[in-house]
Amino acid sequence: MHAITFTFILSGLFTATIAARAVTTTPPFEVTRAKIHQVQGCNTTFEFMVYDPDPLTNATAKCSYTWKTGSSAYPQAEYSPCSNSSFAWNMASYEDIYSFVLGIEHVFTDPAIGAYPYDEVTNFGKANVSTPDSLWCIADDEQTLCEQHVNVTVKAPIYATIAKRR
Ligand SMILES: *[C@@H]1O[C@H](CO)[C@@H](O)[C@H](O)[C@H]1NC(C)=O
Ligand SMILES: *[C@@H]1O[C@H](CO)[C@@H](O)[C@H](O)[C@H]1NC(C)=O
Ligand SMILES: *[C@@H]1O[C@H](CO)[C@@H](O)[C@H](O)[C@H]1NC(C)=O
Ligand SMILES: *[C@@H]1O[C@H](CO)[C@@H](O)[C@H](O)[C@H]1NC(C)=O
Ligand SMILES: *[C@@H]1O[C@H](CO)[C@@H](O)[C@H](O)[C@H]1NC(C)=O
Repeated sequence: MHAITFTFILSGLFTATIAARAVTTTPPFEVTRAKIHQVQGCNTTFEFMVYDPDPLTNATAKCSYTWKTGSSAYPQAEYSPCSNSSFAWNMASYEDIYSFVLGIEHVFTDPAIGAYPYDEVTNFGKANVSTPDSLWCIADDEQTLCEQHVNVTVKAPIYATIAKRR
């Protein structure tokens, strides 16, 4: 009984290893410390931290952007690079500062998929950020400040992955 279970787990692990770049086995990006400051008649500033827990990269970056309040001048179709430009982000969809979906991409190398320069992987994830689950806000007539709860990490599941092809 035990031996059978053990074999099963082993073959499961083997499958997971050879399919290491399969979307379902890739851990989600983690978004923390999102902060939005919307000043009426002026700018909206936005920032967050993103972490890629994939053991092959284990990387962190800070993403930030400023746009004119009321405009849609945040990144949408294009991705905007983060502090470590292996990460980039956009608003995959944006309702208002109280509810939006972040699109995040991360490029890193996985020697298992090929030799340089064919060892490059790009993962794409999306994270829902909204009040009250992930954000709390305070507002007056002039400005609104929203911050992510310190005890809440928003996961951005990987929905697509691409590798350079020969
Ligand atoms: C608003 O943002 C623009 C573009 O990022 C910048 O040039 C400008 O100085 C900002 N204004 C203020 C008051 O921060
Ligand atoms: C990820 O990086 C952090 C900081 O550099 C380090 O403390 C941690 O041990 C690393 N984790 C893994 C799984 O490599
Ligand atoms: C950016 O992240 C990559 C992994 O994605 C890492 O190899 C590189 O050292 C990082 N660069 C900086 C400047 O932190
Ligand atoms: C984000 O919200 C949409 C709509 O509510 C939902 O379908 C989707 O599964 C959510 N994604 C995550 C990562 O929570
Ligand atoms: C996070 O902390 C807030 C305030 O302390 C609390 O209301 C909320 O339930 C906590 N959320 C989670 C997911 O623990």
